Amino acid sequence: MKINGRSYRTIWPTNQDRSVEIIDQTRLPHEFKTLSLTSMNDAARAIKTMQVRGAPLIGATAAYGICLAMNEDTSDTALTNAAETLAAQRPTAINLRWAIIEMVKALRDVAPSQRVEKAFAKAAQICDDDVDICRRIGEHGLKLIEDLAAKKSAGEPVNILTHCNAGWLACVDWGTATSPIYQAHNADIPVHVWVDETRPRNQGAALTAYELGAHGVPHTIIVDNAGGHLMQHGKVDLCIVGTDRVTANGDVVNKIGTYLKALAATDNDVPFYVALPHTTIDWTCKDGMSVPIEERSQDEVLKMSGRTTDGEVVEVDIAAPGSPAGNPAFDVTPARLVSGFVTERGVCKASSQGLLSLYPERA
Ligand code: MRU
Repeated sequence: MKINGRSYRTIWPTNQDRSVEIIDQTRLPHEFKTLSLTSMNDAARAIKTMQVRGAPLIGATAAYGICLAMNEDTSDTALTNAAETLAAQRPTAINLRWAIIEMVKALRDVAPSQRVEKAFAKAAQICDDDVDICRRIGEHGLKLIEDLAAKKSAGEPVNILTHCNAGWLACVDWGTATSPIYQAHNADIPVHVWVDETRPRNQGAALTAYELGAHGVPHTIIVDNAGGHLMQHGKVDLCIVGTDRVTANGDVVNKIGTYLKALAATDNDVPFYVALPHTTIDWTCKDGMSVPIEERSQDEVLKMSGRTTDGEVVEVDIAAPGSPAGNPAFDVTPARLVSGFVTERGVCKASSQGLLSLYPERA
């Protein structure tokens, strides 16, 4: 996607494969800054501190983290250590583990002298595939938006609600939930996006709004509690979100608050779709309740950061001093609340049968 007229991906190798460049997402929306990762530890830190985040992008960063580890030491021990260190950074998104397994599979039978070259080629392939997959998710999701647009009068927008950031910043390009939106906008279908702010880290207000704005897509930021009200008043035609892990039965693990949106959507007959690449399906996990949910620092709840009128980015306390906070980062939306999955292979029911109809090789 374009920032100030220049096309970017969220991650790319530089310096003849000695380093990897990322967009530092902790600085957005106030500052667009790229950052060089030169070691496996840099990649691990970027994932942990959420300089990169979003399920597909943390997978891509882990893939390049293995490349950076190979730059330092191509031994089997270094490969195993890098895989274990990178996988430990965030527990919920399955793409992280998927990408690491792909890298280890690609490298384990390769002579150490060939491993650097092979690693960078494999990581680049993971990124290129992600771009292609997200584009195809957009093509399939576009049909949902076209069907809703056909019921509107001329010029009236399709109102789409999304939660967190499942946009191009969460992937390598396009995004999952946002890909159909970008493709509808590019096809001159009027769309308007309700952007959940997504407390506590505000991925919606800071990132989704930033990228929609940069692409010229009309949108409005709302507080996380507003979605149900808007649905009751007929102001939401479609919800579409991303996911960090879909289990074999079709349960959806995604950013905290997704479950409440799905409940409100079900109560108001608003279609609730989840967009995902096959790399987000955990075929080994039978249901959402068995997925580890990341518990993050209470500081994320007790403090907020923002830009003052002087342009300085500051952090402030927002809670009663001394009160503790809980910060589960993800929740589970049961499959029964999901209208369907939008994947690179098409749209299917949120169930094991639905998933297997698109991925019969996993039967
Ligand atoms: O904690 P984050 O910002 O990494 O969480 C991101 C999400 O929950 C996204 O919805 C999910 O990773 C899908 S990204 C295409």
